[in-house]
Amino acid sequence: MCASISGFSKLSKSKKIDWIVETYFFNAKETKNILKQYWNTNEKLQQLHDEFIENTITNYYLPLGVAPNFLINGKFHTIPMAIEESSVVAAASNAAKFWMDRGGFKTKVIATTKIGQVHFMYQGNKETLNQFFKHIKQQLIDDAKPITKNMEKRGGGILDIELRDKTQDIKGYYQLHASFETLDAMGANFINSCLEQFAKTFKTQALAFDGFSEEEKNIQIVMSILSNYVPDCLVRAEVSCKVEALHEDITITAEEFAAKFIQAVHIAEVEPYRAVTHNKGIMNGIDAVVLATGNDFRAVEAGVHAYASRNGRYSSLSHAKVENDVFTFWMEIPLALGTVGGLTGLHPLVKLSLELLQNPTAKELMQIVAVAGLAQNFAALRSLTTTGIQQGHMKMHLMNILNQFEANDAEKLTLIEYFKTNVATHSAVVEAIENLRLKIND
Ligand code: HMG
Repeated sequence: MCASISGFSKLSKSKKIDWIVETYFFNAKETKNILKQYWNTNEKLQQLHDEFIENTITNYYLPLGVAPNFLINGKFHTIPMAIEESSVVAAASNAAKFWMDRGGFKTKVIATTKIGQVHFMYQGNKETLNQFFKHIKQQLIDDAKPITKNMEKRGGGILDIELRDKTQDIKGYYQLHASFETLDAMGANFINSCLEQFAKTFKTQALAFDGFSEEEKNIQIVMSILSNYVPDCLVRAEVSCKVEALHEDITITAEEFAAKFIQAVHIAEVEPYRAVTHNKGIMNGIDAVVLATGNDFRAVEAGVHAYASRNGRYSSLSHAKVENDVFTFWMEIPLALGTVGGLTGLHPLVKLSLELLQNPTAKELMQIVAVAGLAQNFAALRSLTTTGIQQGHMKMHLMNILNQFEANDAEKLTLIEYFKTNVATHSAVVEAIENLRLKIND
């Protein structure tokens, strides 16, 4: 029987579990055991995880893998990836190895500006609002000094505040559109605190501004919040080599491969159905590193996809060309990341991941994450335009199917060997397990 409950958040962890188990599950004991088997025996560590979010009942594990051999701007990196999907880490590693022998990845941070907005309603004279904004702008910045002073000492802070007229979209709608430099912090809390202070100053100073009529003084602040759309927090990643150097043991010539690869990218540039899947492949790499380094993958996802639609049609994030016999594959994407604050100093595996990356600055992490996305996209397109995706993907997915059928170690060894030379589809694997078990039982 399902039910609602009041005061759930105030219950202890074990009482929460009791309620869940009694309300939704038939086998209370088994359910509790499943939840508890993921608790860490180190109580302090478990408490840390319990307190990351609210109403925690257990831990939800994701594997943390590593992809070695990433040569980025002449320096080798091993990239940590937290992801549940088989073949992603293998694909990233494969692309890293491929480009390691062809000069590696080149990256550049183009800009690091982040955005926040105070959205407000004002029904009066526009010119008077402009005058008020000019009059108040410095005070907006000054009143936020207690929040910005430390960031300023490090070289960041508020870059600018603009008044934006959005009345063409909604009657009476305006914004304070502010830009920020947050250095190694992702900056969400810093930006939101500044914005809330701007809103306070704006509202109170409007009441005291002589230029406004009594009605105009009544500015309505709707909300103050950062934007996860960061088109000016942009990083570029690129690989290039002579077309002839693309040749490996693939079944087509280097020229044919380059041409087909570029066609595949062009299709993703013009066809949204394809672009979404193409970019999903890029996000396989990006999200995995963003998660491993304790960053906000929802913010990154939202910002990246908005960027992919910036010209009015959803399109490929990556591009490819051949010019003067040189194949170039590149991507520019917005990434607002942090290497301090948030989970970065709290989660032991995030700390470990950052250490594995030699404790990068936020700018360095932007470049590493962009490379992981480009590598992933290269590996997927390389498979798609040559062998097809299923061959490699199913080779990696094989273990999941074997585990699903509770194959023992001996069965796994036999079947892994078998599928080195046979095509692994879900039904072929199931059939092979059944045949093997029949043979053993005969
Ligand atoms: P392969 O050529 O059969 O691999 O590729 P290999 O066995 O010859 O090994 C070569 C290298 O690949 C290895 O070098 C590793 O770097 C890596 P080594 O370590 O031996 O010196 N590698 C592995 N790394 C870790 N564990 C492994 C492993 N196997 C190989 N088990 C591979 C096999 C899967 C890598 C290749 O077929 C591939 O890259 N496929 C693409 C897979 C992919 O994109 N997966 C993502 C999921 S599909 C998806 O969601 C996205 C998509 O829809 C996006 C789109 O449409 O654009 C496809």
